[in-house]
Amino acid sequence: MGLLSDAFFADLASSDGDISTSQTLPPACYTDHDFYRFEQEALFNHEWLCVGREDQVKNPGDYFTTQIIGEPILITRTRDRALKAMSAVCQHRAMLVAEGAGNTRGFVCPYHHWVYALDGTLVNAPAMERTCDFDKGEVRLPPLALEVWQGFIFVNFDLDAPPLAPRLAKVAEAIANYEIEEAPMLAPITGQFPWNWKVMFENNNDGYHASKLHRGPLHDFVPSERATFPEADPTDAGFLRYNGTTHPDASFNPTQRAVLPIFPKLSEEDRGRMTFANIPPTLSLVMTSDLVIYLNLRAAGPETMEQDTGILVAPGAMEDPAFEHRLEMIMTSAKKIIAQDMHVDELVQKGLRSRYAVRSRYSWQEGAQGQLNRWLIRRYLATWERMRA
Ligand code: FES
Ligand SMILES: [Fe+2]
Repeated sequence: MGLLSDAFFADLASSDGDISTSQTLPPACYTDHDFYRFEQEALFNHEWLCVGREDQVKNPGDYFTTQIIGEPILITRTRDRALKAMSAVCQHRAMLVAEGAGNTRGFVCPYHHWVYALDGTLVNAPAMERTCDFDKGEVRLPPLALEVWQGFIFVNFDLDAPPLAPRLAKVAEAIANYEIEEAPMLAPITGQFPWNWKVMFENNNDGYHASKLHRGPLHDFVPSERATFPEADPTDAGFLRYNGTTHPDASFNPTQRAVLPIFPKLSEEDRGRMTFANIPPTLSLVMTSDLVIYLNLRAAGPETMEQDTGILVAPGAMEDPAFEHRLEMIMTSAKKIIAQDMHVDELVQKGLRSRYAVRSRYSWQEGAQGQLNRWLIRRYLATWERMRA
């Protein structure tokens, strides 16, 4: 198994625990092929994985496709309005039955025209009548478990996985005032990136770099020293990070203040900070008074990932005739900040491949890395125990 051994997993313990005493993860966790395969079993085969928003499949017949860990996935809304998640792999000779998104009555596989209903059952398979012991009633696109949390669609390859929402109660309570379940969304932007999914997840949760990498008028109002990291329980499926702002309703644009309508139920406390909600391994929310950015990260390989970056706004925000121009103010600034982050992500991945990459120590401003490590290591160790039993 190469890298994976009892000694390797015993060494991981030093990344668990309080941030003041713990170490960063071994660089191989971000680069090694065997470790990525191990991680598929430890995380991706059993955790709830975000794949998009319910809004993307509002009407009967709506569907969209996506992928994670190399698995092509299809999400549909059936005629009776049920949401379904399934593999997009044709059960004949593995062609993908759908691409992109749209509205349809069913899926005709382009290769030999097997026809699947919106719930994944096979309804027609031409010229199969001479095929012995072929019962089309036994064939269907393999189903995945599905759960909607706060308007986000989560799927699970493990059909027996315990539900997600009860383990996100604390996160749900902390973000309740944003009412994102109903928040209007803009079409997400999808990109492919040459780095490990954890590099991205950690960057989005790193309070330490805010006042350094992003120093300047587009970010100085969210200073690193105002980062706080509420403790998560070991059984929680997600964790929070707050970053106080130097003035209320701070927003990423040159005015440094909200330019879109503020989410109407926000408290004074909410408006005096940015809230980061994290549901590893696929969802990270950046919540400001007038805009929520969500990152839907989907691992594609040890050193590659895909991401949908989406935006949620307050109800009615889009009705303002100047909405696009106001949004542009934010996006122009956000793009500059994101470009700084992505430059770092790309070069960190290169650095992690080096023989000189080390396990280092954390600043207190990296508390969210400790939270992620705890979430990861618990699962890594339990899986290693199971595999070697
Ligand atoms: S591969 Fe789909 S019908 Fe043959
Ligand atoms: Fe950043």
